[in-house]
Amino acid sequence: MEGKTLVVYFTRLGNSDFAPDVDAVSSASLMRDGERLIGNSELIAATIARATSGALFAVQTQDKYPSSYNETVAWANEEFRGTRLVALSGEQPSVSEYDRVFVVFPIWWGKLPMAMRLYCQQQDWSKARLYCIVTHGGSREGQCISELEQITGVPVLDHMPIYDKDCTQSRQAIETWLTRIAES
Ligand SMILES: Cc1cc2nc3c(=O)[nH]c(=O)nc-3n(C[C@H](O)[C@H](O)[C@H](O)COP(=O)(O)O)c2cc1C
Repeated sequence: MEGKTLVVYFTRLGNSDFAPDVDAVSSASLMRDGERLIGNSELIAATIARATSGALFAVQTQDKYPSSYNETVAWANEEFRGTRLVALSGEQPSVSEYDRVFVVFPIWWGKLPMAMRLYCQQQDWSKARLYCIVTHGGSREGQCISELEQITGVPVLDHMPIYDKDCTQSRQAIETWLTRIAES
């Protein structure tokens, strides 16, 4: 692909305090890459970055989510209800410096996770060509695409849901999707 590509992702892992010996195999959204644990959305984002020679950026929260899945679900619900505030950590790349931006995240409660919503709200999307992949546990993209368009004010030019259990076998589907984008 010509021009500069940015791949921005949010994943539960990397935003949670997991014990180093956590059993990755028994948890639907944890995978091991050698010694390192990686989340579904990170795996997808890294695949896109590799295929497009794009820059890869992880949206990180200041407060870490609980390592327990159920506690994270409850925590995220509090974020959506506004009883728990989210703050991002570190410096964020400006989407205005890129020709094309891929946004990758897990659907949470049918919506964009608050951290990803916050990142998107802080950016100037006016010149961005925006693409999106939502990883999910069965509800596909829910309201995420319309929500993303509302937040950014630009259309999502192409998008694809990936079921969480398919993430590790999704490279071919992603490459086919990227070829479609490159030819459009
Ligand atoms: C807080 C929370 C809320 C979730 N809500 C949904 C949902 O509404 N619909 C769904 O299909 N999956 C839901 N899931 C499952 C994740 O979207 C799915 O497992 C995703 O691939 C995890 O990606 P990650 O490993 O990058 O965090 C939820 C998971 C969490 C932790």
